[in-house]
Amino acid sequence: MRPLIIDCDPGHDDALALLLAVASPTLDLRAVTTCFGNCSVQDATRNALRILTLAGATHIPVAQGASGPLTGEVALGNYVHGVSGLDGPDLPEPGMEVVAQDAVKLLADVLRNSDEKVTLAVTGPMTNVARLLQQHPELTPRIDEIIFMGGSTERGNHTPTAEFNTYADPEALDVVLQTGVPVRMIGLNLTHQALATPEVVRRMSDMQHSVGQICAGWMGFFGASYRKVWEFDAPPVHDPCTIVALIDPGAVTWREAFLAVELEGRWTRGTTVVDLHERYPDQAPNAQVATVLDRDRYWRIVLEALDKLGTA
Ligand code: BDR
Ligand code: CA
Repeated sequence: MRPLIIDCDPGHDDALALLLAVASPTLDLRAVTTCFGNCSVQDATRNALRILTLAGATHIPVAQGASGPLTGEVALGNYVHGVSGLDGPDLPEPGMEVVAQDAVKLLADVLRNSDEKVTLAVTGPMTNVARLLQQHPELTPRIDEIIFMGGSTERGNHTPTAEFNTYADPEALDVVLQTGVPVRMIGLNLTHQALATPEVVRRMSDMQHSVGQICAGWMGFFGASYRKVWEFDAPPVHDPCTIVALIDPGAVTWREAFLAVELEGRWTRGTTVVDLHERYPDQAPNAQVATVLDRDRYWRIVLEALDKLGTA
């Protein structure tokens, strides 16, 4: 089993990523760390505890991390995910407590104590991971890779050009890219291929258990936000793409490319720059960038995992 930590800001799509990782027989989810993003970090932590309780995974340690970015103003995504960051259906109260140490300490402990390299899946702003690498550069070789949801090869969502996670802490992504740690980016160009269509939501609500009903309810709330803010017919379920890529490498097509993030632009701060056509010949590729999603494989994996969790 592949050792994994998820650093997240749950969030409706983060929630599905967590459920998917818990259900996977090939992933060993060793810890969950939380970050500000879709909501305050306190709400993100409470949501992570409730999601793991729903999944029956109360043994997985959860540590709270950053309440804001390395520099600059705090941006929050409550306009998409609601007041709690996970609005919609009622959830069980947390059946577990957050651990005493903070996210950077838990990340460092898991990396230091693992007999194998550990994969980091990051589905919120990159702040906790940047702090980890700043405070413990000696642990960089303990990271197998960082696979993150953020950025885009094309358009943005929080601003016309910047995706939310990279907008929320561009300096943190820049810190990570400067370390040379292996990075894979799953941007909006990929996740907009992962739409929870009415057929997908119906298959969730047809499941005869609370996990299916709750996920369908989450997609209802998330879908209404996407209709209102971006006029989407169905919501893109971004964050589980990171976990599907780990479970089934063939479900995602990748390109090696130079990746940077804009820190200065008057209108473009937080925008990722992905050089897919080698227009910067002096810049060596430094990332794998996702381009095509096999939608059928994606939804087969996600729906089977949710059904398995609900009937366990
Ligand atoms: C990203 O921002 C959040 O709304 C989602 O959880 C996802 O991680 C998409 O831009
Ligand atoms: Ca997220």
